[in-house]
Amino acid sequence: KRRIGVMTSGGDSPGMNGAVRAVVRMAIHNKCEAYAIYEGYDGLVKGGDMIKQMEWEDVRGFCSEGGTLIGTARCMEFMQRPGRLQAAKNLVVKGIDALVICGGDGSLTGADKFRSEWQGLLKELVDTKELTDTDIEPFQHLNIVGLVGSIDNDLSMTDATIGCYSSLARICEAVDSVDTTATSHQRAFVIEVMGRHCGWLALMTGVATGADFIFIPEEPPKENWEEEMCQIVKKHRALGKRKTIVIVCEGAHDQNLKKITPTAVKDLLSKKAGLDTRITTLGHVQRGGTPSAYDRMLSTLQGVEAVKAVMEATPETPSPVICIVENKIVRRSLLEAVAQTKEVATAIEAKDFDRAMELRDAEFAE
Ligand code: F6P
Repeated sequence: KRRIGVMTSGGDSPGMNGAVRAVVRMAIHNKCEAYAIYEGYDGLVKGGDMIKQMEWEDVRGFCSEGGTLIGTARCMEFMQRPGRLQAAKNLVVKGIDALVICGGDGSLTGADKFRSEWQGLLKELVDTKELTDTDIEPFQHLNIVGLVGSIDNDLSMTDATIGCYSSLARICEAVDSVDTTATSHQRAFVIEVMGRHCGWLALMTGVATGADFIFIPEEPPKENWEEEMCQIVKKHRALGKRKTIVIVCEGAHDQNLKKITPTAVKDLLSKKAGLDTRITTLGHVQRGGTPSAYDRMLSTLQGVEAVKAVMEATPETPSPVICIVENKIVRRSLLEAVAQTKEVATAIEAKDFDRAMELRDAEFAE
């Protein structure tokens, strides 16, 4: 029977468990054996008990659980070749030749690199007598399929990453709570949200809650943003608004790439706009908790598609990443998606914000 491994890697996100459940059950449905690799790449490098066979019942109830029940880690050992050599040995020993990985772009790139090195790693394991030719004979090719799990919605070529809508819902709930107390006291609040270099969470929170001003990395504010922001909030106040909400993405910066901090924004609102201002940093509350209905559905459909991709893969097929585009579950080239994602970061670093926005817009238009 064919053996398929599933793991979660990088920062956790709501919906990862739904993906694990779908991969395990779809693998079993296809008469394969399913293996969970615990604690991300750490488990792959350690092997042994960290790679466990999963039965149908082992994933019961997973779909509605937050975080990742099989654990995750940001593993340094796998970044080095000796770590990947050990990982290759562990997979051969367990008889696994296909891996479905749910994680962010870093985790998925690492997986594809592993695949490209696979034959070289096996040869080295035979040369060093760790394995024999007979051991490696059935494992000439490693299949990798990516699922994008991240609250940041930062991977190009997919409309939504697993977890981003749960996180957005949680952030909106938090902003709604802040709203009531802000309105009572006529205060201003600066709310910092996650997202690293991707402004999606901040932007969509702003849209969904009617925030007064939003800071995102892809489109930094104008040179005179301090003035502009104060004028806008004052105008809103003059129209009768009793509260002010400013959303700052944690990766926000100005046109010169100087970080825009919640403290700097607070000081401006207090001193220039004359508002009693507080800061709320939402932190990991945004990443925790139960997945939304959308993420349960997305992770399940994508997990099913990931196993289909494994079953249909040939040695020549480029590693796919499972995406959602215009409400359809589709496969895209993992390397192309990662490359396009990097292009956004490169454009931001080069202060080419028009290009960064063009790339983001293209994602939504695709
Ligand atoms: O990528 C997900 C994310 O939550 C980012 O939004 C955030 O910057 C980062 O991970 C936080 O990572 P950690 O939990 O390792 O501090």
